[in-house]
Amino acid sequence: MTLDRIHHIGVAVTDMDESIRLYTSTFGAELVQRTVSETDGLEAAFIRTGEGEVELLRPTREESPVGKFLARRGPGLHHVAYAVTDIDRALEEAREAGLELIDQEPRIGLHGSRIAFLHPRTMGGVLTELVEST
Ligand code: CO
Repeated sequence: MTLDRIHHIGVAVTDMDESIRLYTSTFGAELVQRTVSETDGLEAAFIRTGEGEVELLRPTREESPVGKFLARRGPGLHHVAYAVTDIDRALEEAREAGLELIDQEPRIGLHGSRIAFLHPRTMGGVLTELVEST
């Protein structure tokens, strides 16, 4: 499995408008998408930073995964996402390598790509997302 590049980093925030302003006004970065997922209990905003992106995550309910993360850890770095060309193969190889998978099968992420999360327990404490991307 090859991790082609860092695709984006996820940052948990409490105030979405203020966080978007931080990146767009202060650094001139471009807001490319802002969306709410009731399924995941979060609002996400994607900020383009050169070739990569920052994904801002704000919980819409306290008991959602990001809500629990914020309550436990406070705002800050939430996950790192890597681009892979074949996510089915990457996930299979991760499973064979003994890594703990959160998603047993790829699912459609907020920006329409196929994604899967690996548990931080077997990733050195880092919640890791794989994104299928060419
Ligand atoms: Co992400």
